[in-house]
Amino acid sequence: MTKKRIALLTGGGDAPGLNGIIEAVSLTLLKQNYEIVGILDGFEGIFAEKFLDVTEERVRNIHCEAGTLLGTSNKMGTDGREEEFLAKFAKLGVEGLIAAGGDGTFAGLSKFRDKVPLIGVPKTIDNDLSGTEITFGYDTACSVVAEAVDALRATAHAHKRVILVEVMGRTAGWIALGGGLASFSDVILLPEKPFSKPKLLEFLKEKQKTQRGLVLVVSEGAHASGEEVLVAHRVKGSPQEERYGGIAERLARWIESEMGWESRHVVLGHLQRARTPTTTDRFLTLGMGVTAAKLAMAGQWYKAVVYREGRITSAPIADVMGPARRVNLDHRWLDFASTLGIFTG
Ligand code: F6P
Repeated sequence: MTKKRIALLTGGGDAPGLNGIIEAVSLTLLKQNYEIVGILDGFEGIFAEKFLDVTEERVRNIHCEAGTLLGTSNKMGTDGREEEFLAKFAKLGVEGLIAAGGDGTFAGLSKFRDKVPLIGVPKTIDNDLSGTEITFGYDTACSVVAEAVDALRATAHAHKRVILVEVMGRTAGWIALGGGLASFSDVILLPEKPFSKPKLLEFLKEKQKTQRGLVLVVSEGAHASGEEVLVAHRVKGSPQEERYGGIAERLARWIESEMGWESRHVVLGHLQRARTPTTTDRFLTLGMGVTAAKLAMAGQWYKAVVYREGRITSAPIADVMGPARRVNLDHRWLDFASTLGIFTG
């Protein structure tokens, strides 16, 4: 009897926990005698027909490693190559596809409804996907930020300096807010809350009277009111072409020139995606991977595995394809920040 086959793909920017999804999905399916076709490098693997035969030996214990065994890419969508995609996908002879990806991955696949049976596992360190309260990788990214701020505080105090830490997140400030709160940072600047430059200066001047050094967490998409977000570079053909960056350095120079307080900046960049997943992210990916595999075996396609009200569950895939889920200005975490005297704009 020929074995049932399911394809597995990781797409978009990597996030700590992708290997946990791969291990949990694979072990669940392999135990039920399924074959798994691992598609390499996201959509690129379909077009170039690059696959990995997923075996238990290959996936055992990869959950604690960052990156993804299957490789990924956030450079390419499926636009303009739909027929080629469908023809090459059909050749795989699989019942359907489990894809761990972000908005770009799901947007690229959404047009193949009824042709590519799909289970989506929402993934991004940015935590900004709609339809789920948390995405795996976010907790690890916040830990990287918190550890960096806690470490940088020592050198900021030693030198009587301001240090601005730029963090990822695109248009959403979840990483800045989560990492900034976890490290009791002095200032947290979010894209959702354009900040007042005069008020920031006033805050810093007050702080300078009592504190030797300061650490500010700045989201890459943050900007002063009336100013534009800074675009560092563009990636042509990517589902999201603009990559943000540069605000921490810009603000460091501005603080020095406005008030003479020596300032430095640190861009945490891809360190936020490169750390081995935290226990929280491991639990999340273990549960999400098992759930995705069970949905596939039950033939419940066009579902996403989501986290709602404290548990992992499933929802229509369209739920995770909505506009970015950004920080609400009445979110309780912002209230925690203002109660603690943290400047947020
Ligand atoms: O979506 C995750 C993310 O890490 C963003 O926060 C960041 O702006 C972007 O990816 C960086 O992408 P790249 O890997 O192309 O530099």
